[in-house]
Amino acid sequence: MRSVIDILDLSVEEVNALLATAEDMIANPKKYSDACRGKKLATLFFEPSTRTRLSFEAAMYELGGNVIGFSSAKDTSASKGESVADTSKVISCYADIIAMRHPKEGAPFVSSQNASIPVINAGDGGHHHPTQTLADLLTIQHEKGRLKDLTIGFCGDLKFGRTVHSLITALCRYENINFVMISPDELKLPGYVKNEIPENGSFTYRETTDLEAVMPELDILYMTRVQQERFDDIAEYLRLRDAYILTPEKLVPAKKDLIILHPLPRVNEISVAIDDDPRACYFKQVRNGKYMRMALILKLIREAEENPTRVQKNTEGTYLYDYKCDNPRCITTTEQELKQIFRVVSAEHRICRCIYCDTKKKY
Ligand code: CP
Repeated sequence: MRSVIDILDLSVEEVNALLATAEDMIANPKKYSDACRGKKLATLFFEPSTRTRLSFEAAMYELGGNVIGFSSAKDTSASKGESVADTSKVISCYADIIAMRHPKEGAPFVSSQNASIPVINAGDGGHHHPTQTLADLLTIQHEKGRLKDLTIGFCGDLKFGRTVHSLITALCRYENINFVMISPDELKLPGYVKNEIPENGSFTYRETTDLEAVMPELDILYMTRVQQERFDDIAEYLRLRDAYILTPEKLVPAKKDLIILHPLPRVNEISVAIDDDPRACYFKQVRNGKYMRMALILKLIREAEENPTRVQKNTEGTYLYDYKCDNPRCITTTEQELKQIFRVVSAEHRICRCIYCDTKKKY
């Protein structure tokens, strides 16, 4: 029995197999209409969502299964102080698989350590959003016919945009990708994501503040929303929110076969005048998300039937227990019983990372 918390919990071969299954589901939906008959998905959404929650639910219904769940923590016993760990043990008595969104980074991982059913991370703070990445990969594969030899521009809030972090991580497992990062200085990609891009000649990485200057080079433009909910200082958000607004005029020098992606929701960073442009693929991305979630639910439920024992993550390495995570969004700040654990990532530079939220610390 396995959970998917990070896109790297799936091998490249598994991602490719999920893409093939999703394509087959698009072509032959009837073939899968009973695949999860008698099974229940629990959607545990402690943070707002439209696409992810409803696409998980639509996915389970299209597989012939049923859905239970909630869309807000305030209607649950979490509001009385129940832990993520206990909630996960309870839900394991009612359902066959969990999809969890939580504002605290590492919450779905804690859930996976306590549930006796598979857990899928449906977005944890600014950390991971693996099923959005699966939707992005299917859209790129479908529209461009490949997941390699691509120049991709990420534009907007690259600091808090978890979908950007997960997609970069996923694309680094393919070949010949040029990453062009377009953001204000204040919203640049965190160093820990940048450092994961391999230096093996197959990838290039560039940062710029000038979207129009790089537009002609791009095969993919991945726009993002400036994430108000992650800012501590509202004045800073108001100053940065309109940094990039994509308009038809800005697309004039773009390639004819550019594809424009956005995980949505958008606020105003893509003008609605672009929606009818054939290069606008963000609503196709939404549709693809449902099929990738169908493929993932089916895979994890079948695996759990074959092997109900929890598959443990690789625990090789050196662990430290005497430090406290400094990330205010880490699940360790609210989950009282959780032991703080750091994994050493560089003994030479004395750097370790929180195992829940990946925040780095010097030791
Ligand atoms: N893309 C995405 O995660 O959308 P929701 O927040 O609506 O789920």
